[in-house]
Amino acid sequence: MIKNDLFLRALKGETVDRPPVWMMRQAGRYLPEFRAIREKYDFFTRCQTPELASEITVQPIRRFGMDAAILFSDILVVPQAMNIEVQMKPNFGPYLPSPIRTPKDVEKVIVPDVTIALDYVMQAIKVTKQKLNEEVPLIGFAGSPWTLLCYCVQGQGSKTFDQAKEFCFTQPTAAHALLQKITDTTIAYLKEKAKAGVNAVQVFDSWGGMLSPADYTEFSWNYIQQIIDSLKEEVPVIVFGKGCWFALGKMAKSGAAALGVDWTCSAQNARHFTGGNITLQGNFDPARLLSPPSQIKKMVSQMINEFGKDKYIVNLGHGILPNVPLENAKAFIDAVKEWEAN
Ligand code: CP3
Repeated sequence: MIKNDLFLRALKGETVDRPPVWMMRQAGRYLPEFRAIREKYDFFTRCQTPELASEITVQPIRRFGMDAAILFSDILVVPQAMNIEVQMKPNFGPYLPSPIRTPKDVEKVIVPDVTIALDYVMQAIKVTKQKLNEEVPLIGFAGSPWTLLCYCVQGQGSKTFDQAKEFCFTQPTAAHALLQKITDTTIAYLKEKAKAGVNAVQVFDSWGGMLSPADYTEFSWNYIQQIIDSLKEEVPVIVFGKGCWFALGKMAKSGAAALGVDWTCSAQNARHFTGGNITLQGNFDPARLLSPPSQIKKMVSQMINEFGKDKYIVNLGHGILPNVPLENAKAFIDAVKEWEAN
């Protein structure tokens, strides 16, 4: 039994004294103890070494006491396991030297046996569960098929992902074949993560907001729905679609346990679009963590009042920025713990 089960209770929609809190990308670069490990080991070594991945996962919990941990890893370990070369270049980000551009390229992509290719993730989960000692739940995650396609085709980060869109719009058959291979791998991967011990999974659709509502349904949502259908009986699924407020209505009927919201959508609109019945997660502007701590506390308290304490998980509207002062991150977490119904 997990001692602090606030997060799991919020996912079930149960009544709580205060909402749970965690931060997207909480295991990362704003922490000095993370940067110390980064100096010694490159990115994928950190992901592939259970001792390191588990250590990085628990670092923010030890420092700030969030109500859930998220496993240190990356969404790009999935394409890597599918025989697509992925590098993480310091001060640049992901770089894929042989991007996918043709039906032949798609044919070469494999759907791996995840119990072998991604066994290191399962080992990291097991070691992390031991370190967490049932204190808080552990979240596992994957990128959405569309968001992974963005990197696989573009070959690197982008403000527009224009080449990824061009591929989908000019070679839709190949694009759908690639999306289906990523979906099949992701379903097997998340099922295995649940078996290894994660208590919930989050699907990051970081680039869903690049698509029009109709294209979103065709190239992103239909694949996320397959993931939810396959996973929801085994583990609660959270879907975070950045910039996807237009799809919240459809998402609310999908069987997902909770939906992430970014900071461009008000709490009121998010509740309205989703019908008021599903757990929502978000949506503090990550750059607002650069405001003075006293202001952060006021804004967090107001945010909770707007979303309501139940069916709500306090989070940022996207990942924490690397230049956030530690005391500001602490103010965010403390504000939730200090919140009182008025
Ligand atoms: O949330 C956590 O703390 C768990 C770890 C986590 C990482 N990446 C570690 C990481 C998670 C959940 C991710 C998800 C991820 N990775 C997403 C979806 C979430 C989002 O932010 O939209 C995406 C798009 C990626 C791809 C990725 N990985 C990029 C674009 C970059 C470089 C830029 C950046 O944000 O740092 C990475 C590298 C990466 N993944 C780092 C970390 C801590 C920083 C690089 C390093 O540590 O060397």
